[in-house]
Amino acid sequence: MMEVLKQRILSEGRAVGKEVLLVDSFINHQVDPQLMAQIGDEFARIFRGVEATRVATIETSGIAPAMMTALALKVPLVIMKKSVSAILSEELLQTPVHSFTKGSNYLLTVKRRFIQPQDRVLFIDDFLANGEAALGAAKLIAMAGAQVAGMGCVIEKAFQPGRARLQGEGYNPVALASIAWMEDGTIQFTEE
Ligand code: G4P
Repeated sequence: MMEVLKQRILSEGRAVGKEVLLVDSFINHQVDPQLMAQIGDEFARIFRGVEATRVATIETSGIAPAMMTALALKVPLVIMKKSVSAILSEELLQTPVHSFTKGSNYLLTVKRRFIQPQDRVLFIDDFLANGEAALGAAKLIAMAGAQVAGMGCVIEKAFQPGRARLQGEGYNPVALASIAWMEDGTIQFTEE
C-alpha cells in the first residue's frame, strides 16, 4: 500500500456510516495534483512490466489518477464515457453498467478506434467497490478485441465484493490503499 495516501486518507478522509468514504478534499472534488502525480508514478512502477499501450478510465473521478499514470507510462489515456452525444457518428462500443451507489444504469461508451485489437489496456479508477465499473470497462476492451493488461484502483473498499468479482473473471486488481472496514469517524486499513 502507498503510505502517503494512507496518511492522507486518515487525516482528511471521512467515513460516512459503514459504506462511504468521503475523499472530496484531495481526490474527487478538490484534487491534490502532487498526490495524483505520486499516485501515477506508483501505478507506473507497479505496472511497468505489463507493457500497456493505453491507460483507460471512466469519467469523471477516474480521470485524474489515470491521467497521471498515462503520463508516467508515456501512453495515451482513453476516457470511457457515461453519456454520449447524439451526434456521434463513429462506430461505438457500448455496454450497460449498473451503479449501486446511484441505483441506476448507464451505457459505458468508447469509440472503437481508440482501442485497437493489438492494444494492452491498463484500467485505472478511483474506487473499487462492487466492481461494476471495472467489469464494464473490461467488457468494452474485450469487445474491441484488445487485452486487459492490468487493473488499478486508488482506494479499494475490501468489505465490498468488487475484488472477488474481478478475480472470478480472471483479473487481479491492485489497490494503493485497501480499507477493511469503516464506521463513523474510524477507518481501518487491511493488513498488508
Ligand atoms: P463499482 O463501480 O465498484 O461497482 O461501484 P459503485 O457502483 O458502487 O460506485 C459507483 C460510483 O461511486 C463511482 O463513481 C465510484 O467511484 C463511487 N464510489 C464508490 N464508493 C465510494 C466511496 O466510498 N466514496 C466515494 N467518494 N465514492 C465512491 P461514479 O458515480 O461513477 O462517479 P464519478 O466517477 O463520475 O465521480
